Amino acid sequence: MALRWTNILKDRDVTDEAVYLNRRQLMGGAVAGVGLAGLGSQAQAQGLEPNAWEDITQYNNYYEFGTGKEDPSRYADQLTTEPWTVTITGMVDRPGDYAFEDIMKAMTVEERIYRFRCVEAWSMVIPWNGFELADLLDMAGVQSGAKYVAFETAYRPEEMPGLKYPVLDWPYVEGLRLDEAVHPLTIMATGIYGKDIPNQNGAPLRLVVPWKYGFKSIKSIVRITLTDIEPPTSWNKSNPREYGFYSNVNPEVSHPRWSQASERPVGGGLFAERQPTLMFNGYEEEVASLYEGLDLKANF
Ligand code: MTE
Repeated sequence: MALRWTNILKDRDVTDEAVYLNRRQLMGGAVAGVGLAGLGSQAQAQGLEPNAWEDITQYNNYYEFGTGKEDPSRYADQLTTEPWTVTITGMVDRPGDYAFEDIMKAMTVEERIYRFRCVEAWSMVIPWNGFELADLLDMAGVQSGAKYVAFETAYRPEEMPGLKYPVLDWPYVEGLRLDEAVHPLTIMATGIYGKDIPNQNGAPLRLVVPWKYGFKSIKSIVRITLTDIEPPTSWNKSNPREYGFYSNVNPEVSHPRWSQASERPVGGGLFAERQPTLMFNGYEEEVASLYEGLDLKANF
């Protein structure tokens, strides 16, 4: 697929958090976009200023640890992430339990600075480290009849206090069409700002699909299943009228209870202006062709 990497930044464009913080201080936030050639210049050109580490790691949704935005950062350190295995199963040539270390040895980790848009209408810009999901699926060898990829989060009642509450039908599950899963923008994130991904963000590996609402980006994955039927997804099961399988970011399709036309950038302060939400979260050029001929209102 011919891709223009307009929304992607690689390692060489980004240094480390210190530089970001330094740049944030230097630029005082308000004058982003001026000068400082070489420091994430591509991101600046697009107005993509990553959120601070504190925003990204202390304002989370991870209901296995509670439904408050600060619950995950309070409680997720209880999750044991070493050792970790991902079972890859279903329509693959090499099904099995893949140790996280072995996956990491085989994968090329890059930095990707992506917009992140939650269905609740807040947004951030996150500098993920990770690898393309397509490469992981190659490791297992996807069979020709496979059409979907199903994902499952760890279910550990003794480590995840939120599992006591029937907020969702645990474990958390998600799914993608195979063409969405192997799209080069779809990654498995293993880090943020060059550090290991914190537990509250989905350690040791979580999905990131930047053109879809954040709930598609399932955390702490233990099982991946290749299948030929559309897999069930947690939020759709819980409320099918409000949450569809696709969940592509779309400013023109309202949530039944609120508009999706604009969003609140997290970290912008209490009186930060809302900003317009972009079609496919700004990745229209890269992904619109996946949905040619599909009624996006009916397939929300
Ligand atoms: N994955 C699991 N297992 N459990 C969850 O509650 N919340 C989803 C998604 N992945 C969630 C999950 C939602 S609603 C969002 S917006 C993002 O994770 C939040 O990711 P972040 O906390 O890293 O910003």
